[in-house]
Amino acid sequence: MKILAFESTCDETAVAVVEDGRKILTDQIFSQAKLHAVYGGVVPEIASRCHVESISILSQRALEAAGITREDVDAVAVSYAPGLIGAVLVGVNFAKSCASALQVPLIPVHHIRGHIAANYLAYPELEPPFLCLAISGGNTILVDVRDYTDMKILGATRDDAAGECFDKTARVLGLPYPGGKPIDELSQGGDDSKYTFPIGHVDGNPYDMSFSGLKTAVINLVHNAEQKGEKLDRASLAASFTKAVSDSLVPRTMMAARELGYDTVVVAGGVAANSRIRADFKNACEKEKLRLFVPPLKLCGDNGAMIGAQGYYEFLAGTRAGSDLNAYATMEL
Ligand code: KG4
Repeated sequence: MKILAFESTCDETAVAVVEDGRKILTDQIFSQAKLHAVYGGVVPEIASRCHVESISILSQRALEAAGITREDVDAVAVSYAPGLIGAVLVGVNFAKSCASALQVPLIPVHHIRGHIAANYLAYPELEPPFLCLAISGGNTILVDVRDYTDMKILGATRDDAAGECFDKTARVLGLPYPGGKPIDELSQGGDDSKYTFPIGHVDGNPYDMSFSGLKTAVINLVHNAEQKGEKLDRASLAASFTKAVSDSLVPRTMMAARELGYDTVVVAGGVAANSRIRADFKNACEKEKLRLFVPPLKLCGDNGAMIGAQGYYEFLAGTRAGSDLNAYATMEL
């Protein structure tokens, strides 16, 4: 079954063709990051306009690259939540038109479910149940993935997402947006014990997380140093900051795996590209003899293939949408 899949929840316009949920025939991505970099973050109006300008061309390119015609498309999947509402709407409306014109089913896909499904594309042997940490620019959640479409949130950030924390730290250090990769690069060779940052603990649910205190601590450290004219060791600051994020994510995930009896840990989302977090998960899972799956770098960030992958399993579960499908800025997993 060939699914034409659309992703437009933030600043990537993406169109993919995925076969049977596991095989990428093409994954076309147009990143708008450069357009937003000058503003230090995503400008929603610019994102929406850019999606409108590129989605049609990308779709044509996707069909050509996949070597198929419109008639070969069996269903259309679209990321309909959560995201920047104007941006999501572009993908949803375009997908609705495609499904209607091609007379094929329309499948709504939750964006974070898509991130989790990116792992199915890379690892044919991976099947639920497993424990998943989804870490992106807007979400940080620990998910009990019982089945392809049956998931329960075990814990989540109470404030900022891990990716947001990377982006704001990068901004205060004068690094470009999105800041995760530049921080990752800067941190190489830095001393991760040089600066001490707080690791957020929250009362109540032990699987919940917090990153706003860490973000504020970095901002205060940098501003204080500027005011005193002190020179910071930027590589060590980036390494110490990344260690604090990882120390907040990895032990908590391992604790959940132990307590819930999982033998498989999956990581997903843009922040899963971080080299320190990947290495810490690898070490922790080796130590506890757990299977670990982390997407290859190109499938960590937003892409259309992950929507096609999850769309296939949503289709099998009977999920369909009509022409009244709406876009949502927030949505339960
Ligand atoms: O999953 P994603 O592409 O978009 C959302 O669905 O939000 O994630 C984007 C986030 C950004 O905050 C970006 O800075 C972060 O992923 N990111 C990284 C790295 N590469 C991207 N964070 C840490 N280390 C990286 N290497």
